[in-house]
Amino acid sequence: MGNLKQGEFIGSLDCGTTSVRFIIFDQYANVVAQYQSEFPQYYPNPGWHEHDAEEIQQVSELCIARACSNLEEGGWTKESVKVIGITNQRETTVAWSRSTGRPLCRAIVWTDSRTKNTVAHFEHVLTHTGLEVEEGLFKNGEEGVEALREITGLKLSTYFSAIKLRWMIDNYPDVHRAHEGDDLMFGTIESWVLYNLTGGSNTGLHVTEVTNASRTLLLNLRELKWDPLLLKFFGFRKTILPKLVSSSEVYGHISTGPLKDVPIGGLVGDQQGALVGNKCLKEGEAKCTYGTGAFLLFCTGKDIVKSGHGLLSTVAYQPGPGTAPVYALEGSIGVAGSAIKWLRDSMGFIATANEVNTLAASVTSTGGVYFVTAFSGLLAPYWDSGAAGLLIGLSSYTTPAHIARATIEANAFQTRAILESMKLDSNTELKHLKVDGGMTNGDVCMEILADIGGFDVIRPEMRESTALGSALLAGSAVRLFGWDISKPETLSEVNTKGSREFNPRTTIKERQKSWTCWLRAIERSKGWEE
Ligand code: G3P
Repeated sequence: MGNLKQGEFIGSLDCGTTSVRFIIFDQYANVVAQYQSEFPQYYPNPGWHEHDAEEIQQVSELCIARACSNLEEGGWTKESVKVIGITNQRETTVAWSRSTGRPLCRAIVWTDSRTKNTVAHFEHVLTHTGLEVEEGLFKNGEEGVEALREITGLKLSTYFSAIKLRWMIDNYPDVHRAHEGDDLMFGTIESWVLYNLTGGSNTGLHVTEVTNASRTLLLNLRELKWDPLLLKFFGFRKTILPKLVSSSEVYGHISTGPLKDVPIGGLVGDQQGALVGNKCLKEGEAKCTYGTGAFLLFCTGKDIVKSGHGLLSTVAYQPGPGTAPVYALEGSIGVAGSAIKWLRDSMGFIATANEVNTLAASVTSTGGVYFVTAFSGLLAPYWDSGAAGLLIGLSSYTTPAHIARATIEANAFQTRAILESMKLDSNTELKHLKVDGGMTNGDVCMEILADIGGFDVIRPEMRESTALGSALLAGSAVRLFGWDISKPETLSEVNTKGSREFNPRTTIKERQKSWTCWLRAIERSKGWEE
């Protein structure tokens, strides 16, 4: 390959729930080269969902190598990649050994709901003994729940990492021994991937980034520090914890492969990455990403807004070490694209995910069918780990097309539920919603979202916002192209492609009617599993 050109690009490694991609961007956010690969999902028992962390690492390295080959085939040297960022599925918990650098068990994925009893145990402790908020001062009952929320922005749920880690220590003897013997290293996916990219058990860095840490139940959200009293509450040794780092700084360099010695300058949870990639950097800006799940993040600026209506407070990004973080309110929906995957893989209604649009469009309504896609309980704003998946309104008239349409509507109803909570929490009514993620490629999905939600849906042409977010943070860390994430005006030339708008075609009365039915279906789904 002679005469390759030298450019200036940024690589972004996007480690999602079902696939990994490495995307190489230029300074305007054009994709210059990329490679994507799925990796195995393990469901060993009902409600369990596991990943093999080593497989994620292998697939990550494969994607980097193949994307670099594609870059060279496109006429550019791989030395054109000046810095990389990493973005990742959040909350998924990895436990590995300090001495061998290898995982001690499979990673427990964010969707996994096996830890219901662990949650019940800590709820009991919180109610009776309480949470120690200062040396010797305990808050219990409702005050305890409130204190936990005040410190972490979260609630006790199977969703968050501390609960998953506690379950691993209590149920896997290897993890238990490693914890007792100070051989245990805990991390979320960005932490694990960075550790391996920087040399694993030899020279690997053990760090975690604050947006990811804000999903563990161990971070003091205001101070951005691990909270010693939370460690005590969950019974963890401090030595297992990674060092906290910001979302944009040079953490270290890649130790091997085609990008050896390239700095790693951005780390961010994928949903916060999409917020940054959509340039929703200031208070009042919001986006919803429809991937495996769907996640609506509303930027609240320098303030932590506490939700009284089932949303979470979380770190949106921290522009650099020691800088003030920007916060967000988040509404998390556990099942979005994964329900489409279920229609394809388990029901056989469609052959490809995109076909859901054609199938749903072959009917004009769901024929009275409602589908509560509570495959592993319900997250925001309902927070019911005992809720069960529910299809209601079936009749001999029902066909796969009605069920496909009801599956898409389920996303729209859940989005509406989150927006209603956000309105109550922030006193702001969102008239437009910026969307991205795999599900937004289908026009029918977008039309249904606008019709059910009653708001305008704005779909940008460039929808790689998760990966772009980590690229912006990485580029910013080395001031490539003059970018500085804390000065949004420096990003004005990035991603200026247009967008398409979908407006509601329904009346308020029609929307109210279907919304009432949805709320009835939700009530029937709740508390099914004890
Ligand atoms: O909180 C889980 C989330 O980060 C997963 O994102 O895109 O893999 O559905 P995604």
